[in-house]
Amino acid sequence: MHKPVIRPRRLRQSVAIRNQVRELNVHPHELILPVFIREGLTEAQEISSLPGIYQHTLESIRPAVAEAAAAGVGGIMLFGVPSERDAVGSGATDPEGILNRALRVVAEEAGDAITVQADLCLDEFTDHGHCGVLDARGRVDNDATLERYADMAVVQAESGAQIVGLSGMMDGQVAVVRDALDDAGLEDTIVLAYSAKYASAFYGPFREAVDSQLQGDRRTYQMDPANRREGLLEAQLDVAEGADIVMVKPAMSYLDVLADVAVESEVPVWAYQVSGEYAMIMAAAQNGWIDRERAIAESIVSIRRAGADAVLTYFATEYAQSLRA
Ligand code: PBG
Repeated sequence: MHKPVIRPRRLRQSVAIRNQVRELNVHPHELILPVFIREGLTEAQEISSLPGIYQHTLESIRPAVAEAAAAGVGGIMLFGVPSERDAVGSGATDPEGILNRALRVVAEEAGDAITVQADLCLDEFTDHGHCGVLDARGRVDNDATLERYADMAVVQAESGAQIVGLSGMMDGQVAVVRDALDDAGLEDTIVLAYSAKYASAFYGPFREAVDSQLQGDRRTYQMDPANRREGLLEAQLDVAEGADIVMVKPAMSYLDVLADVAVESEVPVWAYQVSGEYAMIMAAAQNGWIDRERAIAESIVSIRRAGADAVLTYFATEYAQSLRA
């Protein structure tokens, strides 16, 4: 009988040898925790479609930041949920708006232990729920929105954001925000571009988390899930405009796009394991259909393996703790 000459199983025969040939280990500092701060709450409130994830108050956010930092999580990405909204999303540029107030609290709590990041988008703040302002015909007005983003970036940075996360998918947003920051003397503020952001059903639970007012969809600005090449184009444009970090989002259904961007990019590449990805793992695990801990580890290592240097994930604190244990 012909015996196999090459036997890949040799390197799988024990824990010790598997540990020595593993190509990739995930570290806590490569994880970033998204958090929600809701105006007008008296205590933290669990989000039903994101079990274990809360809308925080300005008080309850402090221990959540401390816990993430103690677990070694690398960063925290803030989303604000205002109690009042208007057509232009005024709360986004008001220094007393919920997100900017939260940034000051979190920056104070975080110190140097963890990077403070802010979602830079208008959808949480507009009464129509779109990521930009609308023109007379009700369409999202790209260039009028850029002016709002410029103001928003400066207020966020002045409130304590070290990284601004541009998630609105307006053309030219990176260049405009970079200029505005530099003009304000905020040259050190880092621009994270959600470059290849797809119009995805996997943002479903996020809509509950931020009490989204959106009717309709975001397909005139977020990308068509069928388009791979365009993901790379978007990342290249953002790098040319001055992005310090580019991102692909969602993660698990877009690992091909992530791999393309990771091969070509000259700046770090991050990926966002979004709310629906978290919810699917949690729901299946709660039914006893999959092993929760293993599914978390496998999903995050696959995103790293495809080329992400860091991963935004609602599992960040829990997974970082398990890595340390
Ligand atoms: C826009 C934004 C969204 C998410 C992050 N930033 C919502 C959207 O684009 O519809 C979704 C994140 C998630 O689903 O976890 N502010």
